[in-house]
Amino acid sequence: MTANTNTATSSSDTPNEITLLQPDDWHIHLRDGEALATTVAHAANSFNRVICMPNLVPPVKTASDAIAYRQRILDALTQADITKQRKDEFNPRMTLYFTDNTSATDIKNAAESGIVQAVKLYPAGATTNSADGVTDLKHCTQALEAMQKYGLPLLVHSEVTHAHVDIFDREKQFVDSTLGQIVRDYPELKIVVEHITTSDAADFVLAQGDNVAATITPQHLLFNRNHMLVGGIKPHFYCLPILKKATHQARLLEVATSGNRKFFLGTDSAPHATHKKENACGCAGCYSANIALPLYATAFDSVGKIDRLEGFASIFGAEFYGLPLNTSHITLHKQPMTIASSYPYMDGSTLTPLSAGETLPWSIKA
Ligand code: DOR
Ligand code: ZN
Repeated sequence: MTANTNTATSSSDTPNEITLLQPDDWHIHLRDGEALATTVAHAANSFNRVICMPNLVPPVKTASDAIAYRQRILDALTQADITKQRKDEFNPRMTLYFTDNTSATDIKNAAESGIVQAVKLYPAGATTNSADGVTDLKHCTQALEAMQKYGLPLLVHSEVTHAHVDIFDREKQFVDSTLGQIVRDYPELKIVVEHITTSDAADFVLAQGDNVAATITPQHLLFNRNHMLVGGIKPHFYCLPILKKATHQARLLEVATSGNRKFFLGTDSAPHATHKKENACGCAGCYSANIALPLYATAFDSVGKIDRLEGFASIFGAEFYGLPLNTSHITLHKQPMTIASSYPYMDGSTLTPLSAGETLPWSIKA
């Protein structure tokens, strides 16, 4: 990162402007069909590589599904109202959706496709569109062995799904009951613990070798469950894994800003139409694609660590996936920006972003 020394600094000596290697988003939901008209332009404005989650209906289960889905994303990109440079640099990387029937051949084909970056494990029933997910890891042995063999990473939604387990304990229980076992059984497998929300998950990742890393979302760095529940239920803060206590938020902020290469950017930007969030049974997901960088900058600056943003946003994820670093740059500056109250979305609906209508201290410099 280049801290611009020509720019006046605040009393705390925080630079008012930073230039980063163009970031990548290692966990995003773009959806499909008409949704792509909104989500692709927003993602491409900020990110070069994005890892696209496969929880479509029906899910992306094979390399040929992934190739077709990627083409639909690229078709939407050609229509997007963004600069030619952003279009040229945007590079969607695909994932397969792990099911009980994912075979070693599916993994081999994915590894050889050149566009499948990883395989996403949703415990069946854990979250949005996870009904076709894995019911028991005993069904996954051959696929996991093949992933280890071909170097295809496993991305994990780390929550148990048992009805009797409290929603705030589901991540910790999965870490304790399952993650350690996967690491022991497949010691060479690359694993990303996605969107970690607890100090337990952070500590687990820290205790493993270089083959185990984690993504962290902007909402889990900036907010805790009080933001969602005190003074009225605020559905746009509802995502899974759910926001936790402030002590967990503080630990996530600590590890994200520590410079440790195991922790990198994954927004988990997850669009749901406003009326499906503001609902008696609201959907899980925070939409942040186009405001993620100002959100992360605000979080890092809140603890005086804006100088650590570039590693987290632009370097450590690429290193983990064995990809080259980007060569272009983006500049953020301490100019307030007010987040839109909503965006047009699909057939006449709207999409309400995280922190809609709020003003952030950081913005992307045009
Ligand atoms: O909040 C979430 N939304 N968490 C997930 O795991 C899935 C995502 C979605 O697809 O909407
Ligand atoms: Zn996700």
